[in-house]
Amino acid sequence: MAQIDIDTSVEEASQAFLAAYAEHSCDHLVQARNAHLGKDAPLRTAQRQLGALAPEDRKQAGAQIQAGLAAITDAYSRVEALLDADDLAQRLSEEREDVTVPVVMNPVGALHPITALFHDMCDVFVAMGWEIAEGPEAEAEWLNFDALNFTPDHPARFMSDTLFLDPPEDHRILRTHTSPVQMRTLLTRDLPVYVVAPGKVYRADEMDATHLPVFHQIEGLAVDKGLGLADLKGTLDHLAKAMFGDEAVTRLRPHYFPFTEPSAEMDLKCFVCHGESVGNPARPCRTCRSEGWIEWGGCGVVNPRVLRAAGIDTDVYSGFAFGMGVDRTVMFRNNASDLRDFAEGDIRFSRQLVGEAR
Ligand code: PHE
Repeated sequence: MAQIDIDTSVEEASQAFLAAYAEHSCDHLVQARNAHLGKDAPLRTAQRQLGALAPEDRKQAGAQIQAGLAAITDAYSRVEALLDADDLAQRLSEEREDVTVPVVMNPVGALHPITALFHDMCDVFVAMGWEIAEGPEAEAEWLNFDALNFTPDHPARFMSDTLFLDPPEDHRILRTHTSPVQMRTLLTRDLPVYVVAPGKVYRADEMDATHLPVFHQIEGLAVDKGLGLADLKGTLDHLAKAMFGDEAVTRLRPHYFPFTEPSAEMDLKCFVCHGESVGNPARPCRTCRSEGWIEWGGCGVVNPRVLRAAGIDTDVYSGFAFGMGVDRTVMFRNNASDLRDFAEGDIRFSRQLVGEAR
């Protein structure tokens, strides 16, 4: 076996590998590898013929063939690495993402105006150290009425006003106000309590522009040593100013609720006409219907009978409570005129009133 044959084989193999690289062809590279390193490659054939040589020649020729095969393998590896690197570079450039291309974002939702207002009102109270309380919408008749000192024949208990749940012997109803959370709070929390309870309430009303059978209230209850009507008025004025601006004024009108004594309805001075539409047909006000005041909810000093029903010593503790309609508050604040829009779930309505989701 002549020295020149091995050099030629190495040279030919290198050329074949480089040719495949020039063509950027992995297939050709594989073919060239089979031809120069496979079992029919010239140096493999020569290896098999070594046995025919004299022992002293065999050793030297074997070593030369080994060196030739190693050189070919080395050449192959280098070309393969080059092809791989080119391939990677090409893929990287082809698959590059242009992060500056403008994209169409999926529209995000919007908070329902009622939810947004609940958040705003709760924030006012949480900032004063009050806590948020909750109760179920399917409520025990006892908590909704009896515990709050409603007599058994109170008209609010009529089927025409209240939605009763089956079976009747369970005495469960859809709560008609958030006030049952008052009793739940007194029965489960330690005194003093300062809580607000936002939630849905139900009444057997026909649906029209100003009535829905389901609507929203936020209840407030404070029970501590020495609380009275002045604390209630101060709290309501603070809430009104936080919600409607520093000019907001509230007034209390005597009223009756079984669970507060004395009781009042609270009105908010119309923040559109500031009362100037009253008796002034030239300047009618749609927001307050020229009445100067807007009805906001009910309130009062907690009736001691309610506190006693919860086992509280009324010689030591007293409290105040209020509950207002949140749907109406959104109507005043955002000039929405038809309550039915609140139930439609049209995101354009929510966005117009609240803006994008916060
Ligand atoms: N729950 C009463 C209503 O729905 C409002 C209210 C709450 C009155 C708390 C007094 C105290 O009309």
